[in-house]
Amino acid sequence: MKRFDGKVVVITGGGSGMGKISCTLFAQEGASVCVVDINEKTAKATADEIIAAGGKAKAYAIDITNEAAVEALFDDAVATFGRLDVYFTIAGISPVGTAVTTSYEDYKKVVALDMDSVFLGSKYCIPHMIKTGGGVILNLVGTYGIRPTPNKLSYSAAKAGALSITRSVAIDFARDNIRCNAICPGFVNTPLNNGFEGEARQRFLNTYQPAPFEIQAKDIAETALFLASDEARAITGQAIVVDGGTEASLYLNYKRPSADK
Ligand SMILES: NC(=O)c1ccc[n+]([C@@H]2O[C@H](COP(=O)([O-])OP(=O)(O)OC[C@H]3O[C@@H](n4cnc5c(N)ncnc54)[C@H](O)[C@@H]3O)[C@@H](O)[C@H]2O)c1
Repeated sequence: MKRFDGKVVVITGGGSGMGKISCTLFAQEGASVCVVDINEKTAKATADEIIAAGGKAKAYAIDITNEAAVEALFDDAVATFGRLDVYFTIAGISPVGTAVTTSYEDYKKVVALDMDSVFLGSKYCIPHMIKTGGGVILNLVGTYGIRPTPNKLSYSAAKAGALSITRSVAIDFARDNIRCNAICPGFVNTPLNNGFEGEARQRFLNTYQPAPFEIQAKDIAETALFLASDEARAITGQAIVVDGGTEASLYLNYKRPSADK
């Protein structure tokens, strides 16, 4: 018996990075997986790989900022696989900019994807979950939703909003047996961070991240598996930080204490 046998899981951003590995691991644990991504080719590739390995999956090429598409996604997931147990929303963008350098148009795009889509996902998945006795919602937020970093105004604001939505949903639907948590990674080795590699990346990690290894997409997917499982039944409304200790430090610039002696 696998951990998610008979369960149906919908994952956005499933074509790349943390979304792709999450789809793969949930499928390996027995779940039927709806792979959602705006990129049709990569969504299909993830679903095809799962099916080729003997798992159950279906690809959905949709933009999760489109309300009608999100509503139809959950209707189709339930029509195809019979129920809905877990919704894990990962798709997002992470641009730079301050209050002055960010255009209002770009600000609204980030808020639409990194915050509004979290609201839309909850709005349309919860009624399906209630029909079958409950479920789990996981929102990929990030530590910038807890406190901002320089030059990331719209991203930090949208992620902070997504975290607040997470808490509201957790409070409002706990008595319906629905849990809702945010996963907050620090720096993760995914295609989103291509272009920030080699020496610059190493210097960044050495300075800001206490743990002496690069956090991988699989570390985040493993956290999601735990949070979606019954073992986490008492955890709801939380920001689960998965960042090798970065956010725990007030003044960053890591030095090994023993090296100071
Ligand atoms: N990588 C990191 O270091 C890190 C850290 C903290 C938080 N995050 C957050 O994690 C999430 C995913 O990060 P990743 O590193 O796996 O990124 P990624 O770029 O590898 O994957 C993101 C996926 O989302 C899809 N996508 C983009 N816009 C979409 C839309 N409108 N509708 C549907 N799909 C869409 C993309 O096609 C892509 O496949 C983002 O929300 C990001 O802000 C990333």
